[in-house]
Amino acid sequence: MAFNVKKICCIGAGYVGGPTMSVVAQQCPDIEVTLVDMNTARIAAWNAADLNELPIYEPGLAEVVGEARNRNLFFSTEIEKAIQEADMIFISVNTPTKNYGKGKGMAADLKFIELCARQIAEVSTTDKIVVEKSTLPVRTAAALKSILHNTGSAVNFHILSNPEFLAEGTAIQDLLNPDRVLIGGENEDAIQALVAIYARWVPTDRILTTNLWSSELSKLTANAFLAQRVSSINSISELCEKTGANVEEVAKAIGMDSRIGAKFLKASVGFGGSCFQKDILNLVYIARSYNLQEVANYWEQVILMNDHQKHRFADNIIQTLFNTVNGKKIAILGWAFKKDTNDTRESAAIYVADHLLNEMANLSVYDPKVPAEKIYIDLDNLNTRNAAENQSLVTVSADPYEACKDAHAVAILTEWDAFKDYDWAKIKAHMKKPAFIFDGRKLLNRQQIESLGFNYYAIGE
Ligand code: UDX
Ligand code: UDX
Repeated sequence: MAFNVKKICCIGAGYVGGPTMSVVAQQCPDIEVTLVDMNTARIAAWNAADLNELPIYEPGLAEVVGEARNRNLFFSTEIEKAIQEADMIFISVNTPTKNYGKGKGMAADLKFIELCARQIAEVSTTDKIVVEKSTLPVRTAAALKSILHNTGSAVNFHILSNPEFLAEGTAIQDLLNPDRVLIGGENEDAIQALVAIYARWVPTDRILTTNLWSSELSKLTANAFLAQRVSSINSISELCEKTGANVEEVAKAIGMDSRIGAKFLKASVGFGGSCFQKDILNLVYIARSYNLQEVANYWEQVILMNDHQKHRFADNIIQTLFNTVNGKKIAILGWAFKKDTNDTRESAAIYVADHLLNEMANLSVYDPKVPAEKIYIDLDNLNTRNAAENQSLVTVSADPYEACKDAHAVAILTEWDAFKDYDWAKIKAHMKKPAFIFDGRKLLNRQQIESLGFNYYAIGE
């Protein structure tokens, strides 16, 4: 039976669900798309009259939302109503790493996914296609199926896996022009219903269909491979610092080999973001659960290397500042996990800051998109010290020049383009001497910065 999808509902209006459904609505004006979320403040922000107040910052997102909102794109907290009316339901709720019980610190916590499935099972009165958008462990669809098929009602559910490969900061471009769209499933008509939606704007040779399990595992594997490249080049960056090689030159030299490729070879203070660490831990956990210890250890090393990179960056600051940062002001430029996003999940900045705070440094933080409250929450969530101590050791500036004033050192932790164009002579004039810059993103021009009289350290040089 061919499906005619007229109404879509997406549960979870976060960094994935929000931009994805906005683009679907923009590209399919005849389909009504409703994003629901249990977080009322978040839904209110999606409905904000001022498009600058959307809960997520992504270049181009405000324009897409502006075009489709209240035409065929709606944001609501009426979850049950949206489920009931929809022909197709995307599940895009978060799947954090478990912080309790079996698999603590490794496995994905699927309680939100299960709650969604139970809610869908309970309120549905017509047949639905249920699409896993959230990144999930392999075989999660089996659990979804079991819940949905045991409702005792006559409603039919078809489960698809459609992992999202967008990267934050380029979400809209990635959604409009994806390398590929992956759809896994068992029912050919359900698969074709989702293919037909993407085919409105994605060339069909880039829409790949597979079985459910391949689709689920491909998402984890893609993230693991990407993160592995960053850890690989970061491991070489440390060797470069010892040998006189320059990691940028090495990356260019190897990247020109078409078998290796030039992308994702930028050495950095460490990868962050909501996905890489979580998904690799998940992969490791799954491998261990099948007793594949070598496979698990292999991928775990990607995380260990990343942790090492963050620690050694912070340690280098301490050592260079004459082995103590106690009472010294250090300016942190950038708190987001990468440029062009206000997302700070697993950002390297959080861990570098925490390490410096353990040594009693005074930090002053500036990020163009991250508000002060978020920075304190990120630090408080580590539970390394209490909130009052974080408040007293960390200030957040709304102005980068103010943040750097009287600092012994500046640490660049996010690659915001604007940092390149700062008046670095002016910044130096108001810093303590000798003035140090620790560039965790290799953003600045060494020659120019050294000619101003800075002591300049960059990863991998
Ligand atoms: C999340 C996962 O982290 C990622 O692995 C997955 O691929 C997609 O979902 P993201 O969109 O970045 O990614 O998460 P987040 O911004 O936290 O958004 C999830 C939203 O779901 C939140 O707004 C939360 O309030 C909502 N939610 C969660 C519900 O509406 N109901 C629930 O039961 C749980
Ligand atoms: C990633 C995947 O790219 C995307 O396909 C998936 O859907 C979600 O996870 P995201 O985390 O949003 O996307 O951003 P990404 O651009 O992959 O960057 C992740 C982290 O790696 C960032 O902290 C970034 O700064 C770092 N990174 C990336 C490097 O340090 N060097 C690089 O060469 C590339």
